[in-house]
Amino acid sequence: MYNHTLHQQIIRKLQDQQIDIAGTDNLFFTRFIANATAIDALYNEIYGRHPEQQHYFDQLIRVISHAYTSRPVALKNRDKEKENKGVWFLSNEIAGMSLYVDRFAGSLAALSEKLTYFNQLGVNLLHLMPVFESPEGESDGGYAVSDFRQVDKRFGTNEDLGKLQQHMQQENMYLMLDIVLNHTSHHHQWAVQAKKGDKKYQDYFYMFDDRALPDQYDRSMPEVFPESSPGNFTYIEAIKKWVMTVFHRYQWDLNYRNPAVFMEMLENIFYYANLGIDILRIDAPAFIWKEPGTTCQNLPQAHTLLRLIKQCVQVAAPGMALLGEAIVAPKEIMKYFGTGLYTAKECDFAYNATHMALQWDALATGDTRVMLAAQHEILQKPFGTSWINYTRCHDDIGLGYDNYMIQHAGFDPFEHRRFLKDYYSGNRHDSPAMGALFSVNPKTNDARISGSLASLCGLEKALADNDSTAVDISIRKILMMQAHAFFLGGVPMLFYGDEAGYTNDYSYLKDPGKSYDNRWMHRPVIDWKKNGNINKKGTIENRIFSGTKKLISIRNRITAVADHKNITWMTPHNIHIAGYLRTFEDKKLYCLFNFTDQPAYLTWFAFKEHGPAPLRLWEHWEEKEIGVGYDHEYLVLEPYGFMLLEPV
Ligand code: GLC
Repeated sequence: MYNHTLHQQIIRKLQDQQIDIAGTDNLFFTRFIANATAIDALYNEIYGRHPEQQHYFDQLIRVISHAYTSRPVALKNRDKEKENKGVWFLSNEIAGMSLYVDRFAGSLAALSEKLTYFNQLGVNLLHLMPVFESPEGESDGGYAVSDFRQVDKRFGTNEDLGKLQQHMQQENMYLMLDIVLNHTSHHHQWAVQAKKGDKKYQDYFYMFDDRALPDQYDRSMPEVFPESSPGNFTYIEAIKKWVMTVFHRYQWDLNYRNPAVFMEMLENIFYYANLGIDILRIDAPAFIWKEPGTTCQNLPQAHTLLRLIKQCVQVAAPGMALLGEAIVAPKEIMKYFGTGLYTAKECDFAYNATHMALQWDALATGDTRVMLAAQHEILQKPFGTSWINYTRCHDDIGLGYDNYMIQHAGFDPFEHRRFLKDYYSGNRHDSPAMGALFSVNPKTNDARISGSLASLCGLEKALADNDSTAVDISIRKILMMQAHAFFLGGVPMLFYGDEAGYTNDYSYLKDPGKSYDNRWMHRPVIDWKKNGNINKKGTIENRIFSGTKKLISIRNRITAVADHKNITWMTPHNIHIAGYLRTFEDKKLYCLFNFTDQPAYLTWFAFKEHGPAPLRLWEHWEEKEIGVGYDHEYLVLEPYGFMLLEPV
């Protein structure tokens, strides 16, 4: 939209900074002007009534321009290359892994030496769990940051990170890092100053002299860690104030009502962008705006701030995609892609958390109806955005999908969730899963689930029982779960260790900095001797690794798997089988998954409901050709088996 005054203001500011708007920097200038009205409107929606509104808006223009002028030429070129690909991250040729640098490789420098491992597996995107400074013992796995710009000594130096990024770039790999937007560690300089009584920095946080407002907030705010960190406020004796601490008491919530906080964090975002990050994972964005009387999650202002961030990034670092880590109700997750005028202009990615949990639901029940009942919501994702698909990550599995989805399948939500919690936490004799309940809240009956992919699929128990048939079944389950997530559409994100069948690691119980948080049971320390087995034919590690690798390579070859919003769920002729069809131009891929321990039968009619019926199909997983039968005949899927069928 044309806005003369605003555009003139921007032009003057850019010229002050020697930016050549008519020459070399013209593309940047064009992007700035194209996004200016949106930036102005979004900024004013939040800060329009702030007494220093103009001062901070000028600063915003400076921050964006500085981000651009300090962006290394190599990254500017990479931005252009990505732009030439259309929406680069929708590709079927990206597969990621999320890992803790220290637990995986020891250090950033050592990780740089491990790139061949990822190459062997087919992984070309790495999500490094937080690497910036955070106090040992009070780090929440790095999500309590005490310095946003200093790599923690545990992992190496800023230089090591730079070298790793360059090395990855040479190898055509992508890098994903976090910005922990919602809070800082109480050891961050801002918190330290606030604790010394500095008013300026006290305004960076939500601080109160008495319990009046905290009590009001607490009445409507849920608790994130009710067991280990009940309540949402912590008393700071030194200044006799209550500070908002939604996560742990050592994670202080930042106050985005203060524009100074927004500017500082935007500068940090650009600092990360200019390190060469391809995907920025915005940690816990649902929480960044608080309003008494609400849950303080998913508020409209949180979306406005994210949109503002997106438009600014679009101008100065257009190659960096944003992932909103919103692990919330299905309808709410969808809003992080943007709505209305901002559809597909907020976060580029979100975690497909609803579907992830539904896979575990289907695996426990052997029934895919709840999964299906949720799809009309999940399919709302706008074109041009994508999912991070996964079976496990460093966090727990929350059963946060809606009750009506469970009811549609004919189950009682309370009993159904109780069954799932019992099934995965070792509370049922008929379950091979070995996990644990996380963050049990006796007030709401809510609980989530911890445990590694292998342990939840029964491998730990099978090994303890020395039962080779059970080992085989667990491996089938692991690969079926991975395949189901890999072909959905979106970027598959493995969790390190899962590619080699790591079961739960209980050593966290001996570490007082971790023992209160059982998510550590599924965050293994990699034993490279064990991982060496990936190359020894027939070992468990080899079977899982080579299966995972094969899935990635099949995915890389089939363009219909790229995320063009091209997924259609097949009619559920058999409730034990989840089937979806991926189509692109004249290509089709039928993906079928049997979630039970029995053979499952699917009428061949299922293949005749979506355009011309194929006569013969190539099954990519077992590499065999199959003829399509008559409608009264059946295709049979093995227990926990799956098929990836392409018409020939
Ligand atoms: C995100 C992280 C989680 C962390 C929380 C607080 O949800 O994934 O591990 O505890 O944010 O930063």
